[in-house]
Amino acid sequence: MRFRELGNTCVFGLQWGDEGKGKVVDLLLEDFDVVVRYSGGANAGHTIVVDGQRFALHQLPSGILRPNVLSIIGPGAVLDPAVLLGEIASLRSRGVQIGDNLRVSDRAHLVFPYHRREDTLAEAAARVGEKLGTTARGIGPCYADKYARYWAIRAGDLHPAGRFRERLAAVVAHKNSYLAAVYGTRELLDADRLAEEYLQFAEELRPFLCNTTVLLHGLMKQGRRVLFEGAQGSLLDIDHGTYPFVTSASAGNGGVVSGAGVPPTAIRASIGVIKAYATRVGAGPFPTELRDSVGETIRQRGNEYGTTTGRPRRCGWFDAVAASYAAMFSGPTGLAVLHLDTLSGFEEVKVCTAYKTGGVRLSEFPADVHVLDEVEPVYETLPGWSEDIVGCRRLADLPAAARDYLRVLGQRLGAPVRMVGVGPARDQVIFVEDGV
Ligand code: GDP
Ligand code: IMO
Ligand code: MG
Repeated sequence: MRFRELGNTCVFGLQWGDEGKGKVVDLLLEDFDVVVRYSGGANAGHTIVVDGQRFALHQLPSGILRPNVLSIIGPGAVLDPAVLLGEIASLRSRGVQIGDNLRVSDRAHLVFPYHRREDTLAEAAARVGEKLGTTARGIGPCYADKYARYWAIRAGDLHPAGRFRERLAAVVAHKNSYLAAVYGTRELLDADRLAEEYLQFAEELRPFLCNTTVLLHGLMKQGRRVLFEGAQGSLLDIDHGTYPFVTSASAGNGGVVSGAGVPPTAIRASIGVIKAYATRVGAGPFPTELRDSVGETIRQRGNEYGTTTGRPRRCGWFDAVAASYAAMFSGPTGLAVLHLDTLSGFEEVKVCTAYKTGGVRLSEFPADVHVLDEVEPVYETLPGWSEDIVGCRRLADLPAAARDYLRVLGQRLGAPVRMVGVGPARDQVIFVEDGV
């Protein structure tokens, strides 16, 4: 009951994704009744380890493992029904109960195979240096259709069947000519087959679909506590991240209001999740990246391989310039610092506190990724710790150097550390009551 007093809370990443949001959401849900995924789609991979069993959730909220929590996929998320239903089937086969504890917004936009195809074709066609390294889940093309409006289809549009078939036929005709003209695709999509497949999905989705905005407001009025589960990370935010090496959604804290359908005043607290170092999967600038044995050690100790794609994650020292910029626009009221255990064993640990270019210190986080590519990180070097901290459950159990390191992170980001991860399992955590 440690976070109950916070009120409705948002959990979101302050780096380039994979900070450990799944674990934090899972832990906080002890104190909440409802969880809402409000942005992104099956590009996310949120890992939860319970009783030695590992669950990787892509489309479903991380609350799905808790039968007493209502899990909602909100209108700002994009929905790949094949992934969602596959995930539901796989979890059910592992004994997870999914029924009345899941609701999906009828406003959520649907991902179709032509979105995934376009994602892959655009990546293949992009010039060297302009490839984004997407997850190939069709996220960019689906959000592009949503904002363009002419070719988008929402979950609620799967009914009635006649109108859906007609709409899909028009969209598929457009997509076929677009893909043929732009990418020379000869393999045309069959609108009838696709309609059959999606109408079958519709049958299975129907019990879950509703206006989740109305549902959520009703629940909040009854005093139910709501947790908002961010996907990706603030530095992948479409407006504020390292554009164009970002995702296609509002991945910072700002996305919650429109993505979930709640007014800003409904959110009382926000937990910014960071790793004790930095990782990035996919292309894009990464000033503190370590392309040496230190980076490799972090990757091995932290098991830094993508949850969605299995790609090795790029690893580096904690970048307080980038993360504090993210903290500025996402505004965490508290921090969860994960993977502190991964840094055990280094003689010294480093935090990037400034960028230099041509010997000159930059005063701001640059908008231009080419500048960001070339900056030289300025480091504050701190003493490391050799002790294994996986068994620590109280701050006082941590070596003094590890506590000092946490203090530096909190100070740099201007928010108190509320939680520290010392391993992947649910119980491998330290809750911080009175500051580090
Ligand atoms: P998310 O996308 O933000 O939910 O993060 P991911 O699940 O993609 O990646 C985080 C990885 O770190 C997962 O494999 C987690 O099981 C693991 N993890 C989370 N917290 C900790 C921690 O404190 N220590 C260690 N060693 N692993 C952790
Ligand atoms: P979670 O929720 C880490 C990255 C991709 C790529 C860029 C664009 O698990 O933290 P996209 O497929 O979204 O068009 O890819 O964004 N990316 C993530 N990186 N964690 C994620 O999600 C990510 N979702 C997308 O690697 O660089
Ligand atoms: Mg992830």
